[in-house]
Amino acid sequence: MEEISSAAQFIPVDAFDIIIFGAAGDLSLRKIIPALFHRWRDSQIPDASRIVGVSRTEMDDEAFRKLVYDSYRKFNPNTEIAAEEWTRFSSLLHYRAVNAADAEADWSGLSALLEQRRDNLRVFYLALPPNIYGAVAANIDSAGLKAPDARIVLEKPIGKDLASARAINDGVGAVFAEKNIFRIDHYLGKETVQNLIVLRFMNSIFEPIWNANAIDHVEITVAESIGCEGRASYYDTAGALRDMVQNHLLQLLCLVAMEPPLNLNSDTVRDEKIKVLKALRPVKLRDIRNISVRGQYASGATDGEVVQSYEAELERGSNTETFVALKANLDNWRWKDVPFYLRTGKRMSGRHSEIVVQFKDVAHSLIKDGAPPPPTRMVIRLQPDEGVKLLLTTKDPGPGGMRLRYVPLNLSYADHFEARYPDAYERLLMAVVRGDLALFMRRDEVEAAWQWVDGILAAWEADETPVHKYPAGTDGPPQAAMLLDRDGREWWAGK
Ligand code: BG6
Repeated sequence: MEEISSAAQFIPVDAFDIIIFGAAGDLSLRKIIPALFHRWRDSQIPDASRIVGVSRTEMDDEAFRKLVYDSYRKFNPNTEIAAEEWTRFSSLLHYRAVNAADAEADWSGLSALLEQRRDNLRVFYLALPPNIYGAVAANIDSAGLKAPDARIVLEKPIGKDLASARAINDGVGAVFAEKNIFRIDHYLGKETVQNLIVLRFMNSIFEPIWNANAIDHVEITVAESIGCEGRASYYDTAGALRDMVQNHLLQLLCLVAMEPPLNLNSDTVRDEKIKVLKALRPVKLRDIRNISVRGQYASGATDGEVVQSYEAELERGSNTETFVALKANLDNWRWKDVPFYLRTGKRMSGRHSEIVVQFKDVAHSLIKDGAPPPPTRMVIRLQPDEGVKLLLTTKDPGPGGMRLRYVPLNLSYADHFEARYPDAYERLLMAVVRGDLALFMRRDEVEAAWQWVDGILAAWEADETPVHKYPAGTDGPPQAAMLLDRDGREWWAGK
């Protein structure tokens, strides 16, 4: 395999202090701190850096270190860590209890700790409910902790609709400049998602056919086999549309549909993405049942285990969708009349995320009898089994006339690349420290995405759009198949 750019290497970042609010929570213990550990382990994080946990619970440094270690072991049971290695890493970990949303809280302990390393870049990571982002940003400022160039990282969801997103953005924006606000959408940190840009724009064969002349439609599927994993009380206020479509699926749509950016600078790429979001055709109430399907899992079986219904997990009745399928259109020149079908759900038949670009049928079939050749498809597999397949019709070798066979040209990451590369959070955290905003959502993107999603939410409410039950372990309610069937299409179900 020929390497074009230089070999992979982890370029060390400058020393920093990352202050994680909500440090004892699931996101911090499951994703953020393990990601920092992995980057430290690869010598990318200098030992002068510190990871400062903050939450309301009283705890000392040692108790926090133990909590982090126990959680790491639980979530990464197969990773070996030498005792000496963990001791060195855990010396980076500190903890201070602060009720960060409370303007009267005592910040002096945290402030004194941060003062000890005034030269370290400061990164405030808000792994907290979004409705307190503004208050926490204001309190960081009044406690005098906002050093010059300090960065703030916001987890999704940024709000629950356009109005609340604007309020959050205004609140945080009153303290931090936009260039220092890093809104995480961890899908943008995924290796295969970044590869979308390279695939499209660094191979000359795709761009000429990447449009309505050659493409019939695009499918974006993010299927999960897990349920709500103890997050049902949050999830029930969100649902699949807010939790997944407003951010992850629309970001994927942007990368598939955007015009070629001039370069990879953060604003250049984000300027192109926002044009896609603005081109999304607003949803009309009269069309809502033709362009959307809502579902909720009933009991069933996933990954070989019998699982409860969503309502049983929640311990009450609910009208929240755990599955959504949508037909989106972009009103622009490139994508005229090319539908983008999106679907995502929990407790589906398996965990798989992929983008399928289906090209148009051949203009004329050479074989008179028998079915016409299937359309060429490009399947970009985001997870698991990352890779790209181009499905082509070929002649089935051997005698017996002109028999056709549909076969993939297959680029499998597992076969071509090293087994382990940094996960999304690892990459994104290092990008924050470097000040690289390209992989983060700009304010206008978040708000444009909400604007479109708000239209769907309002139509669902006015229409009282039903939430169809689907057995856990299936691909959603049958109505999702009908969404495409009405257009004479079906979801790609191949491997
Ligand atoms: C999160 C959602 O943003 O993404 C979760 O809030 C979802 O509900 C998760 O499970 C999926 O992420 P991944 O990386 O496992 O596909």
